[in-house]
Amino acid sequence: MKNLFSLKIKSFVLGRGRITSSQRNAIENHGDKWIIKLQKPANVESFFKKRANVTLEIGFGMGDTLINSAVENPTDNFIGIEVYKSGIGRVLNKIEELGIKNIRLIEGDAVEINKNIFVDNSFKNIHLFFPDPWPKKKHHKRRIIQKSFVDSIANNLMISGCFHCATDNENYAEQMLTALTDCKHLTNLADGFSKRPADRVVSKFEKRALDSNRKIFNLSFIKEM
Ligand SMILES: C[S@@+](CC[C@H](N)C(=O)[O-])C[C@H]1O[C@@H](n2cnc3c(N)ncnc32)[C@H](O)[C@@H]1O
Repeated sequence: MKNLFSLKIKSFVLGRGRITSSQRNAIENHGDKWIIKLQKPANVESFFKKRANVTLEIGFGMGDTLINSAVENPTDNFIGIEVYKSGIGRVLNKIEELGIKNIRLIEGDAVEINKNIFVDNSFKNIHLFFPDPWPKKKHHKRRIIQKSFVDSIANNLMISGCFHCATDNENYAEQMLTALTDCKHLTNLADGFSKRPADRVVSKFEKRALDSNRKIFNLSFIKEM
C-alpha cells in the first residue's frame, strides 16, 4: 500500500543541491545540540535556556538572514525550519564558529510542522523570505503560501506578532497579498506592499534577484485580537 503522506503536494524538491563534507560533518558532530527533535505539541520556549520572544524563519536556505537576525538580536530566540541539508549544515557551522546560542533548527516540512506541531500563539515574528516561486501556472499549487498555510501562520503568531515575507515574483506577490488580506486574523501594516525592512540582510536569493534587476515585493502583516 502507498504511503499517503508522500502523495501530498510539496513546496520543495528533496535532494536538491550538493552537501559539502564540512556541512555533513557539522550535522554529524553538532546536529544533536542544535537540531530539535520535535514532539507534539511543541512549546517553543522550552527549546531555549533563556526565556525570550521567539522568531521563526521558514525555508532559511543558506541561513544568511537567520544568522544575522540572531547575532543582531542576542536577547531574542530564533528557530529556523529547512528541508535542505546543505543549508542546515552551513548554519550549524556558523553557530559553532560564531558561538551563537539563540538559534535552534528544525529539519522538516514547514507546512506540516506549522499546521500540526506548534502550540498556538508561539511566535513574535514569522519570516518567509523568497520562498520557491514555482512560476509555471501548473505548479502554482506547490507554492507554500496557500489559505491553509496562512491560517496556520495566524494561529502560531502571538497577538501583535508579525508575519514578514518577500518575493521577486510579481504573480506570487499578488497571490501572497490576496491570501494574507483574506485571513481575518491578520492586518496589513502597509497599504498594499510594504517597505523593505532595513535590518534584513540581503540573502543569496535576494542578491540574485537584484543582480537581474527584478523588483522585490515585501509584505508585513500583524495579528490582531
Ligand atoms: C528560494 S529558497 C530561499 C532561501 C532563503 N530564504 C533566501 O532568501 O535565500 C527557498 C527555500 O525554502 C525551502 N523550503 C521550501 N519549502 C519548504 C518547506 N515546506 N519546509 C521547509 N523548507 C522549505 C527550500 O528548501 C529552500 O531552501
